[in-house]
Amino acid sequence: MLSRLFQRSSSDHVLEIAPSGKILKTNAKTTILQAALDQAIAFPHNCRVGGCATCKCKLLSGRVREMTDKSYVLSAAELKQGYILACQSVALTDVRIEVDIATRSAHPVVHTSGVITALEPMTHDILRVECRLKDAAAYTAGQFAEVYVKGVGAGDSRESRNYSFSAAPGVRDKVDTVEFFIRHVPGGAFTDWLFKHAKLGDEIEGHGPYGDFWLRPGTAPIVAVAGGSGLAPVIAMLEQARAERITRDVTLFFGARSQRDLYCLSRIEQLSNQWMARFEFVPVLSDEPANSGWTGLRGFIPQHFASVVGARLAEHHAYLCGPPPMIDACLKVFTDSGIAAENTHFDKFLDRSHVVAM
Ligand SMILES: Cc1cc2nc3c(=O)[nH]c(=O)nc-3n(C[C@H](O)[C@H](O)[C@H](O)COP(=O)(O)OP(=O)(O)OC[C@H]3O[C@@H](n4cnc5c(N)ncnc54)[C@H](O)[C@@H]3O)c2cc1C
Ligand code: FES
Repeated sequence: MLSRLFQRSSSDHVLEIAPSGKILKTNAKTTILQAALDQAIAFPHNCRVGGCATCKCKLLSGRVREMTDKSYVLSAAELKQGYILACQSVALTDVRIEVDIATRSAHPVVHTSGVITALEPMTHDILRVECRLKDAAAYTAGQFAEVYVKGVGAGDSRESRNYSFSAAPGVRDKVDTVEFFIRHVPGGAFTDWLFKHAKLGDEIEGHGPYGDFWLRPGTAPIVAVAGGSGLAPVIAMLEQARAERITRDVTLFFGARSQRDLYCLSRIEQLSNQWMARFEFVPVLSDEPANSGWTGLRGFIPQHFASVVGARLAEHHAYLCGPPPMIDACLKVFTDSGIAAENTHFDKFLDRSHVVAM
């Protein structure tokens, strides 16, 4: 019956996703996540390197080969119940997995290409990259796209990298121009190419949108935390909220090493001036020379929650984006302060240096 659904060669396996009943094709060279994304399924995922567990799913039947050690990111109960990481598992036989894909796809995933229309340095190691898309796409502020460039790395979607949209779609149903803030990771395949070789007019391939990082409805005050290029989805989310005239108090913490790493300050000032409620912007520098004249906060963001936000921290809903250690340190304070897990939303910018080897 299954072979009637698609042309099946001897190396293909059937991938069935419960409870949606979706039947897909996969093989022993493609991860389950990649197979699903290639067939336009909005499979939940984030880092693609086995570090975040967003792609976890229950293996109901069949055998898989796992490329990294999942015991670091799955709980003992999940391991016992047969959970696997779809981004780290390839099917060795026909497989049946369970994962909720129905509620994740507010926007259809679009596979398209675009040309670079702006490459603007925001700091010494962050570029604003703007692309005009061949096919317009819809996304929610806070989400990300997966992009790759032919000739860079494997030059196909196996080498794609995640980048969060840094502009709000506003009232438009679909956009034909997108922008990202991208930090140079020395030795990184995609960002080395971007910073050393990319030029206006170059073509980029991509698909999306993906991700669960977006502003939930509500009235609670917001504490937003951004580190480095993690400002991208946070500013997009807040600019969207301003366009929708949301009246929630906001405290925006922005972590950077030194003054030369701060950027988008005029956009943040505009946001603050036009915000419909209280808006407090708190830059925190971790490596600013002592004699620089900087009068703002120093050190790391979590050490300042108590003095800036105070005893009402537990009433806040938290949105965080940036490097994993910064997010982990903030989450610990939020949990200890009583912010409920369901009111805490984050995207960790995990990369291939976070791969957990077997
Ligand atoms: C949901 C999400 C959203 C993101 N959004 C953004 C964004 O808006 N802006 C942004 O700047 N970044 C973002 N990132 C990070 C981004 O996707 C890339 O990971 C980052 O740009 C590095 O890509 P690269 O190709 O340059 O580096 P890679 O080639 O992926 O290498 C990254 C680092 O890992 C090392 N490395 C490579 N392979 C291995 C290996 N096998 N084992 C160990 N180490 C290895 C490299 O030397 C390098 O130091 C996001 C990540 C996620 C998960
Ligand atoms: S997407 Fe698979 S562990 Fe992060």
